[in-house]
Amino acid sequence: MIKIKVPATSANLGPGFDVLGVAFSMYNMFGFERADHFEMVDFQGRYSNPHHNLVCSSYKKVFDYLKMNAYPVKIYMLDQEVPTSRGLGSSATCIVAGVLAAKHFLKDKVSYDECFQIATAIEGHPDNIAPAMFGGLIASYKANDTYKPVRYDVSADLKFNLLVPNFELQTSKARSVLPKELSYADITHNASRVANIPYAFSKGDLEMIVDLLDDKAHEPYRMPLIKDSTEIKKLAHEKGYAFAISGAGPTLLVISKEDIGHTFDSFTDFKVYKLTIAHDGAVIE
Ligand code: HSE
Repeated sequence: MIKIKVPATSANLGPGFDVLGVAFSMYNMFGFERADHFEMVDFQGRYSNPHHNLVCSSYKKVFDYLKMNAYPVKIYMLDQEVPTSRGLGSSATCIVAGVLAAKHFLKDKVSYDECFQIATAIEGHPDNIAPAMFGGLIASYKANDTYKPVRYDVSADLKFNLLVPNFELQTSKARSVLPKELSYADITHNASRVANIPYAFSKGDLEMIVDLLDDKAHEPYRMPLIKDSTEIKKLAHEKGYAFAISGAGPTLLVISKEDIGHTFDSFTDFKVYKLTIAHDGAVIE
């Protein structure tokens, strides 16, 4: 059996909507073995239908791309640290595991970059897929129908605190509240920040990051969907910490240089995870 470990990711980083993402030291682990028919096995060893599963459908997409019949596999969910529907890229872990398993069994018939393109097409945007596959902080852009991931360093001085709530928010719902158009003023506000985020993250300049994570494209529309988010943002800023919604939410990202201790303990619907950057993306063991 091969095991594929894929990190959690936080997309957007404020103004980098559908562009920026970062990988964290929290993982989902999937197992794959060749079999005579498709099967899915969950943690408890229970079998489920592989035909409605994102790992399995993503695996098959690589074979579709090569116009080949998919080799049947038995897929195991071995470990799940990344909570679902929380804005931490759990869908991306399933997609990435599926395409990389296909790549493994297909050997040299498909490249890592082709797998990245296929995975991004499945997800619809690269901001979780790219850090899940390449690790670190990634800014992606699209040219001639091809996504290009560009990797940046992140200072070891920065501490990433993820406030994960006990409620879910579907990405489709969080995207449905976005406006159809943005003003030039809002585009300038965001572009000026996105341009400087890689610099500030590589230097570990927290004061700058506090300013740069301020977003006009999605955060103002999504905050009302996330209980306590306004109060958490206010408290984070009072402490000098940077704040952003993680992906489409509802998890909230707080970046600090010091240990945040028990600062957010009074928000009892949230559990705090203190994570580090995953410098490697998905790993096949
Ligand atoms: N960039 C995406 C969004 C991330 O904010 O909707 C969630 O998939």
